[in-house]
Amino acid sequence: MNLAVIGSGGREHAICYKLKQSPKIKKLICIPGNAGTQKIAQNIKEDISNFEAIYQIIKAQKIDIVVVGPEHPLVQGIVDYLNKKKIRVFGPDRFASQLEGSKSFMKNLCKKNNIPTANFATFDNINEANNFIKKAKVPLVVKADGLASGKGVSICKSKQEALKNTKEILEGKFKSSNKVVLEEYLEGEELSYFAIVDDNSFLFFGSAQDHKRVGEKDTGPNTGGMGAYSPAPLLTNELETKIKKKIIEPTLKAMKNLGHPYKGFLYAGLMINKGEPYLIEYNIRMGDPECQVLMMRLETDLLEIIDHATKNKINNLKIEWNKKNSITIVLCAKGYPFDYIKDSEIKNLSNIIMDKNNQIFHAGTYEINNRTYSNSGRVLNITSSSESLIEARNMSLSNIDKINWSDGFCRRDIGWRAIENK
Ligand code: AMP
Ligand code: GLY
Repeated sequence: MNLAVIGSGGREHAICYKLKQSPKIKKLICIPGNAGTQKIAQNIKEDISNFEAIYQIIKAQKIDIVVVGPEHPLVQGIVDYLNKKKIRVFGPDRFASQLEGSKSFMKNLCKKNNIPTANFATFDNINEANNFIKKAKVPLVVKADGLASGKGVSICKSKQEALKNTKEILEGKFKSSNKVVLEEYLEGEELSYFAIVDDNSFLFFGSAQDHKRVGEKDTGPNTGGMGAYSPAPLLTNELETKIKKKIIEPTLKAMKNLGHPYKGFLYAGLMINKGEPYLIEYNIRMGDPECQVLMMRLETDLLEIIDHATKNKINNLKIEWNKKNSITIVLCAKGYPFDYIKDSEIKNLSNIIMDKNNQIFHAGTYEINNRTYSNSGRVLNITSSSESLIEARNMSLSNIDKINWSDGFCRRDIGWRAIENK
């Protein structure tokens, strides 16, 4: 079969890595891809918000299935567009993508269906928001309603800070948002829970924990994710039953009732407090960098899984995972998550031996004359698997130490909670 993956991050490189292992793959293209996908797929440069141009590529390359990696094209309706053209594409339609594209949509859906989540209120008017803030408890969580690449959320310790951030959002700091969601702060430990969903059913698609803060011991500003590990030790059978019954099943039922059954990867960002799950957010795609660690553990053929899902037959499959612990450490350009260094050469990447337990997934890289350069904040995902998490982390760190890139930095403590709790 011929497959196309849309996107250019570490997540898409990891998806290509896994698809490439399928005996059924004939052609694999990545639009636009990066220096890593270029080695295992054909990169085709195109603006991924230009759906007509994407369609022309898909047609010319005789693609059987399109897998959409990032949220933006999904929220903008790429699935609706390609479906109309009779292209088989895996992902939610525009309406269902509101689960991530609009926090107020997601929160109202939770409220109507008794799905456990933080108490909240939505505002498009600063005076009303201010009255609410005056009466609210701190910390208070301030969120831009629309997509903001993980940067639209702030946990405010004072009312002044909450008011300032609310004002900025309502004054248009994020183009995607003219509303703000103010919500109660939830205590606990975070867990990323994944499902793969078709019209008839869903299957568990792995668990992971990620580190969103830029600094060691989870300090400093939020980022898109500095590293992740899988499986999540937090996830017990008992907790999983609660997540399915209280969160995933009622959400999928509600989407069906709204006339837009959810289809695609579904990523629930959860807070676990005293053994109870609360939904923090939905993402309508795989996580990045969580996907990288999950692809190292997935034993079942990914092409087979996606083929079944697009035919609404995932129930016929059993998805198998290896028992290893997998970790990924994100190597970032100095300055990230603020202004960061770009177009900086990364040397010695070829010193790293890649095998089934060690992979480097590229995120923001490009190649010229066999030299690799950075072009975004999160640049490389140094990923390893082993029997123990600490051993996997040591393997990743020792690979990082072989790379010569003085403009880069990473967190060396990914997985610290799980490692210290052992
Ligand atoms: P979101 O984009 O909604 O996932 O938020 C980004 C991050 O902010 C989450 O991964 C949490 O670490 C944190 N966060 C969001 N909402 C809350 C909340 N209500 N209570 C505590 N932390 C939160
Ligand atoms: N790792 C967080 C995300 O993919 O949104």
